[in-house]
Amino acid sequence: MPGFELIGKEEQQAVNEIFTSGSLFYNGKRVKQFEEMFAQYLGMKYAVAVSSGTAALKTALIAAGIGKGDEVITQAFTFIATVEAILDVGAKPIIVNIDETYNMDTIELEKAITPSTKAIIPVDMLGVATEVDRINAIAKEHNLVIIDDCCESLGAEWGNKKLGTDYDMAVFSFDNGKTITTGEGGMIATNNLDWYKLCIEYRDHGHENNPKKPRGRDTHRIPGFNFRTTELNAAIGIQQLKKLDYIVESNRRNYKILKNEISDINGLKFRKIPSKCTPLCDTLIFNFPTKNVATEFVALIKQNGLNTKNVPDAIEWHFAPYWDHIFDKFDFQNGDIWDSTKFSSDMLDRSVAIPIMVKMQNDIILETGSIIRSMAEKVLNN
Ligand SMILES: Cc1ncc(COP(=O)(O)O)c(C=O)c1O
Repeated sequence: MPGFELIGKEEQQAVNEIFTSGSLFYNGKRVKQFEEMFAQYLGMKYAVAVSSGTAALKTALIAAGIGKGDEVITQAFTFIATVEAILDVGAKPIIVNIDETYNMDTIELEKAITPSTKAIIPVDMLGVATEVDRINAIAKEHNLVIIDDCCESLGAEWGNKKLGTDYDMAVFSFDNGKTITTGEGGMIATNNLDWYKLCIEYRDHGHENNPKKPRGRDTHRIPGFNFRTTELNAAIGIQQLKKLDYIVESNRRNYKILKNEISDINGLKFRKIPSKCTPLCDTLIFNFPTKNVATEFVALIKQNGLNTKNVPDAIEWHFAPYWDHIFDKFDFQNGDIWDSTKFSSDMLDRSVAIPIMVKMQNDIILETGSIIRSMAEKVLNN
């Protein structure tokens, strides 16, 4: 699964070097190098490092000029941060269902567009791409900005490009559970120079970094905030980026073995992957015919020492109907959030997400497959 498994001596040495030859402040060479390496990895022109994926989402929305009175469409199955960022810029989140890909339903997306819609935030959940071409076509027709929440999918691909690069902006997270980690951290990537500059300024109190001025007398044009990251985070990020290809390769290898082991179980249905997507493969998702069967299955595999991921484990923080502490700022399509998201809740209730670890040995994968098989057959034959 994620980069935390591979935090090791390279990261430790890179951090140590800062104490002998660097500054902890963000504006040093490591942040810049991390940004350049990241942009290069994606094949995009610009990348801006910030303090978290949530900060990246908000910064991208600000750069795109989204604010009060604007509607931003996103999906019901996402981490709460997507919606928090929309609310924090003063815009209104509009929630649409997921489909069998567990990502944004593009038919619902189209129906949710109003004259107030300004942006779409598709979320590539758990390593799999949203329908990039379709969402781009819809956005083009309605003149909408797309900010890809790619926090959970660094390393996935769309066609022969890295996922995120076909949208206007893409944001990434480097928290402890992500493909690569810097402890905490985030990144915005874009090919748009204006948005890039606005992101750089917003994350640093509006500083334009005017070369003709000392920092204390720097010029400014927009209100900003402090979403800077540090040299420490960047030093770790650089080392983690060097391991990214290996992480993705291992995920894919392990995922393939496990999926093969359980692919012929009658009644167990795998997540639909869009045809142009090569997933990150850090999570294997499948579903059962009913919620009861899925619940029984999860209880049994846990008794056998297997873990599950966001589904069902952390679903409350990843599914909109549970966020009643922020409901006063929403509008729901059909008046009620559970009614509006019925398709999503039915899908998620029947689903199980198995984490795929980078360091999973063959015998462990085979054992995992065998536990899944015997428990699935047991609950399906009950
Ligand atoms: C889909 C999604 N968006 C945004 C975030 C926020 O990232 P961070 O934890 O770095 O703020 C996360 C992190 O869990 C996420 O999974």
